[in-house]
Amino acid sequence: MEIVLSGIRPTGNLHLGNYFGAVRSFVNMQHSYRCYFFIADWHSLTTHPRPENIKQSVKTILAEYLACGIDPEVATIYVQSDLTETLELYLYMNMNAYLGELQRVTSFKEKARKQPDNINAGLLTYPCLMAADILIHKAQHVPVGKDQEQNMEMARKFARRFNIMYETNYFPEPASFHFSEKAVKVPGLDGSGKMGKSEGNAIYLADDEKTIKKKIMKAVTDAGPKEPNSPKPEAVANLFALLDLVAERDTYQYFNEQYNRCTISYGDLKKQLAYDINLFCAPIRERIIQISSNEAELERVARIGLEKARAGASQTIKEVREILGFRF
Ligand code: ADP
Ligand code: TRP
Repeated sequence: MEIVLSGIRPTGNLHLGNYFGAVRSFVNMQHSYRCYFFIADWHSLTTHPRPENIKQSVKTILAEYLACGIDPEVATIYVQSDLTETLELYLYMNMNAYLGELQRVTSFKEKARKQPDNINAGLLTYPCLMAADILIHKAQHVPVGKDQEQNMEMARKFARRFNIMYETNYFPEPASFHFSEKAVKVPGLDGSGKMGKSEGNAIYLADDEKTIKKKIMKAVTDAGPKEPNSPKPEAVANLFALLDLVAERDTYQYFNEQYNRCTISYGDLKKQLAYDINLFCAPIRERIIQISSNEAELERVARIGLEKARAGASQTIKEVREILGFRF
């Protein structure tokens, strides 16, 4: 079975963008691939979060993953910092990564600009740790958004370099994976751009009905179409894009026709959208509440995930040590 791996940094609650852009793929893939999903808490240290925040965010994201339908008995779900085998591979990756190429990574340059007082070495070697995460399981497919493309190129480069240096074909080159033909971009509610935590325009899976309604009713629209079949301005197209993700086909078509005939009421469209988003989120929200309150179950899931992840990871380390010439 082919191996899929992906990680997500624990930086807050999951929103509809995370769900339709990434988590939905994980849920769908778990039955046809050997899947590893982990919570990238080491990677989050580059911004120096408080320990209590890390603790809480890891629990939150684990509960939300499970609530979305990732089955810990089928997929392997674990916390990055539990799988210490990765650290050894990270060290080896660092030895074959060069300062110049790491300094040229766009996300390093961006982060360095954003946090000029904290340009730490972890930020520089972020792609080495990410490559170690992937190569420790010899993953072939990595579902990630477009923003991770350069890190993925580095992972491929490090795998290739290791193979050439040690005259082996030990590591497969991991490919980015997009579940659907085109990458999904879930829009925000503020008229333009994507839904995101830092954009402050997100609907969270854990939001209650009232909050969802409030956020949708405040969404940006315009004065309405003046002529039949006119193109939709971005803000309105965004509401339709969200409706397309959560509503039944004929609901979408009904509002689309209303728009094309210039008889649309944005108030009704928003009410319907809030209704359908709530319908979609309600069962997930209930499961989040249920699962979050069961700390023992969260711990059990992290423990069985670690056991499964460790079985393969320790084998990789053993083999890599042999390749490098260390006695095992
Ligand atoms: P955020 O933008 O909220 O900080 P992250 O950058 O942590 O989210 O992204 C986690 C995952 O969710 C990534 O795989 C990313 O591609 C996906 N993702 C985030 N926002 C969206 C969106 N609006 N549309 C589609 N996918 C998204
Ligand atoms: N860098 C990824 C992000 O910011 C998170 C991540 C860490 C990851 N290690 C990974 C993703 C390995 C896929 C595979 O979203």
